[in-house]
Formats: sequence, C-alpha cells, structure tokens
Amino acid sequence: MSRIVYVNGQYLPEEEATVSIFDRGFVMGDAVYEVTSVLEGKILEFEGHMTRLARSLSELEMTCDLTRDQWLEIHRELIARNNVTEGMVYLQVSRGNAGDRDFHYPPAGTPPTVVLYTQSKPGLADDPKAKVGIKVISIPDLRWHRRDIKTVQLLYPSMAKMAAEKAGKHDAWFVEDGFVTEGSSNNVYIVKGNKIITRQLSNDILHGVTRASLLKYAAEAQMEIEERPFTIVEAQAADEAFFTSASAFVMPVVEVDDVALNGGKVGPVATRLREIYLDESRKRAI
Ligand code: PDD
Repeated sequence: MSRIVYVNGQYLPEEEATVSIFDRGFVMGDAVYEVTSVLEGKILEFEGHMTRLARSLSELEMTCDLTRDQWLEIHRELIARNNVTEGMVYLQVSRGNAGDRDFHYPPAGTPPTVVLYTQSKPGLADDPKAKVGIKVISIPDLRWHRRDIKTVQLLYPSMAKMAAEKAGKHDAWFVEDGFVTEGSSNNVYIVKGNKIITRQLSNDILHGVTRASLLKYAAEAQMEIEERPFTIVEAQAADEAFFTSASAFVMPVVEVDDVALNGGKVGPVATRLREIYLDESRKRAI
C-alpha cells in the first residue's frame, strides 16, 4: 500500500510526491534531516529532535518558518494517515530550488524544500539484535569536520556500513587521531567497572538526542559517567560496549575488530540502560 508523504505543505501519495532536479539537497547535499522514532503510535524525543533541527538549520544559515506546533502536527498527521504504530518519521529540509546549479546559496527568500515520510517498522523496540549484541569493525573517520550538523551527506557512513557488511559485521566505528569518534550512524560508549565512558560533545560528533537523554537517565540511576575519547584498544579491554541512536535506542556491542567483549555476550549495563531508556522514552512520548 502506498504511503502518504508530506512535501512542501501537501500530503500526497508517495508516487505523486516530487522534488525539483535543481534542488540543492539533490545537487549539493545541501540539506539537513532528523529521524524520530514512533512507539505505540507516539513520537519519542520530539523536543530534542526539533531543537537539533533548529541548530542544524541555523549553523548553515538556512531558514524554515514552520513552528514547533506545525512540525508536531505534520508528524502526527503522517503517523495517523499511515497507521504507524512502530517505526520512524524521516524529516528533511533542503535549501530549496536554486533554479540552476550554482555553488553560491540561492537568494534569501528562496523557500526551503520540506519533506517528511514515515517508515513502518513493526517490532522496532523488540529488535532481536539487542539480545545478542552486534559486532563492529573500525575504520578511519574521513568525514568533514562539522559532524555536529545533521546533514544528508551520508556517503561515507554508507561506505562504512558496506565495509562492515563485507567483513561479516554489523557496523563500523570511526577512528580519528587514534581515538573513536562515533559509529557510522550512532554515538558509542564503553563500560569499565562502574563507569560509562563516551566521547565529549564537540564538532567531531553528532550531538545525539538519544545520547543526551541516556546520560541523564544513567546519572539518575547513580551510574558514573566519564565524557572523554577512548581508543579501540581500550574498547577491546572494556567490560561492555554499546551505541545509541534514535532508531536503535541502546544497542549492545559484543565485538570490536574481532575481539569479543564480555565473552561475546550482552552485558548487564547495556541491558539495563536499554530497559531504562525505552521505559522513560515511552513515558515521555507525545
Ligand atoms: N543517525 N551519530 C551519527 C553520525 C548519526 O547519524 C546519528 C543518528 C547519531 C545518533 O543521534 P540520535 O540519537 O539523535 O539519533 C550519532 C540517525 C538515526 C540516522 O541517520 O538514521
């Protein structure tokens, strides 16, 4: 069955939804995005995603005059029209149709292109991978240096995921100057003793919405948190590892570059944090 999607103020069947071939998102990768999860038909972490969207837009001097309430209405309308109980809403704002290919930004007042659609994923919160954990490889972080802006320039992360798949693993961790930055589409953590270690925020990583909430919940649960970079060797000697993202929540990692962690089994800290995160997020879903 065809989805109903949102394009520039209109709700349309997906086959009828179009964007210009001159769109800056298409030609220049000049667009930002958000992925927001839906559980029981409700939106998780809505405020966090809206705050980051506003920041991404402002860092790129892009404007979009939709208000928080209008964004919420579009999300809810799409979830309802497409009967999504578990899944995601994808949102993208590009700098719009420049009329011609030009490196310079189009004149002020050129309307942005706004696209949203749902992806239904029944069983999202019950992902069997969360019970057995995932395996990762490391690869050099060759992305640009504004990773704090959530742009659609995702070719290198795609290449990283393909490299992981070729190696028979699930995902890749990026390494720069000897330290892990983040996962190909997630923030990463190791656990040593009673400490959760994760890289501090900077332009080197995306400021994960899931990360912010998880660290808050972990602190509330009296867990100790250390925000600093770590190496692959340190990760391989850790008790546990995991990653966070809007679509995977908290995902245990049981192998890093062929070295098993916790005997290759999902550990208690990742398991508990996943439970806490899902419980708290469900409570706060709107
Ligand atoms: N990815 N780091 C990177 C590079 C990411 O692409 C993502 C999210 C995260 C986690 O951010 P959050 O917790 O706000 O989802 C960290 C999304 C899910 C994606 O591209 O599909």
